[in-house]
Amino acid sequence: MSSNSQWSSRVGFILASAGSAIGLGAIWKFPFWAGANGGAAFIIPYIIFTFTIGVVLVMAEVAIGRKGRGSVVTALRSVGGPWYALMGALGVLTSFVILSYYSVVGGWCVAYLWDAVGGNVTISDPQILKDHFGNLVSNGYLNVGWHFAFLTLTCAVVIGGVEAGIERVSKYLMPMLFILMLAIIVRGLTLPGAWGGVEYLFNFQWENLTSNAILNAMGFTFFSLSLGGGILVTYGSYLPGKTSVPHSSLWIAVLAIQAAILAGLMIMPAVFAFGMEPNGGPGLVFITVPMIFSHVPFGSIFAFFFYVCLLVAALTSAVSLLEVVTAFMQNEWNLSRKKAVTINWVALFLLGSVSALSFGVWSDFTVGGRNFFDLLDYVCTNFMMPFGGLVIATLAGWKAWPVVREQFRIGNNFGPGILKVFHFILAFLAPILVLVAFYQGLFG
Ligand code: PHE
Repeated sequence: MSSNSQWSSRVGFILASAGSAIGLGAIWKFPFWAGANGGAAFIIPYIIFTFTIGVVLVMAEVAIGRKGRGSVVTALRSVGGPWYALMGALGVLTSFVILSYYSVVGGWCVAYLWDAVGGNVTISDPQILKDHFGNLVSNGYLNVGWHFAFLTLTCAVVIGGVEAGIERVSKYLMPMLFILMLAIIVRGLTLPGAWGGVEYLFNFQWENLTSNAILNAMGFTFFSLSLGGGILVTYGSYLPGKTSVPHSSLWIAVLAIQAAILAGLMIMPAVFAFGMEPNGGPGLVFITVPMIFSHVPFGSIFAFFFYVCLLVAALTSAVSLLEVVTAFMQNEWNLSRKKAVTINWVALFLLGSVSALSFGVWSDFTVGGRNFFDLLDYVCTNFMMPFGGLVIATLAGWKAWPVVREQFRIGNNFGPGILKVFHFILAFLAPILVLVAFYQGLFG
């Protein structure tokens, strides 16, 4: 995509945005966050957040992008003025920082795909798998090297153009990922003891509903919908003028939530069946999934396709993050696409390497018990992205509501009632929820 091109169709836009939404957030992060935050006490708020403030903020971002055109800074300036342009720049920074550590996890996917090619991932001994994962992340050369590989792939896609390569590929691989996940779920659920995992995911207990679980659920809603970093503003700016924004946004939310729930069902039953801890941390997916593969016929072939799909899912999200920064540099700094991507390649490699090394040689550096990687993720997910959402909500709900309302109306016959609901969510509900969550997170 260049800054003045457009998606070829509504489906193209939905697929690209869903591609951005569905990624490591759903498949890697969701299971271990749900595990660490009391299962249903995390999932239920996540679903509620998604279908209230989540969808409406997606709509608002897309609407502002389409109205303003250009990068997130350009669009926010044209719809909201110079102050909002500055807030847009904060979104660019958020996307940049997220991509730096996202690429480290993307690197793990490349590493496991590499293992799968060699037939080395279908191991049934949890200790071996744990050691294998621990070794990968704590070995600086390996972790930085795989991060570099993933980042390079991402840069290559963004230079080559989003619609030419990645869109075409993901059209086939994303549905395949769903099918593979369903197959893994079926196998996982038929293991003895697996049902405990389903109960863990869906059995709601009040005492688990802590303010921290709610803050994390809200942060995850932003993360999973790719909100607050300017992604949907940027993608929205390529949206043809007649497409219905609310309709497409609902699709994005439904697809994102479905991916996360499927991932939870893929991982949690296996965790219980194999007697592991549900709060096993970031290695959970990389340890349990290979164990399931060791319990199916042709496990290594399954594993290979699974990691291909996972890598593509991660790549489509990483591409969207890089696209935000690239579009910004093209629009605001007049850099060529190639130059912008090259600068990011180097800068992201350096910053990401610090995250990569924070599992090994630099693991002693912690803030509040978090290593550098966790710290970036915590700040971006729980603060920067919700703050970006707050910016969009105040712009769409207060300053530019008439403009946003016009965008919402295109292609729809909304009565005044539903528009009032959208307006209420943008002007009041979203800002209040974000502020309460901030307060809880900082002082609660
Ligand atoms: N939504 C993506 C995922 O779940 C991650 C992401 C976050 C992408 C923010 C873009 C912006 O993997």
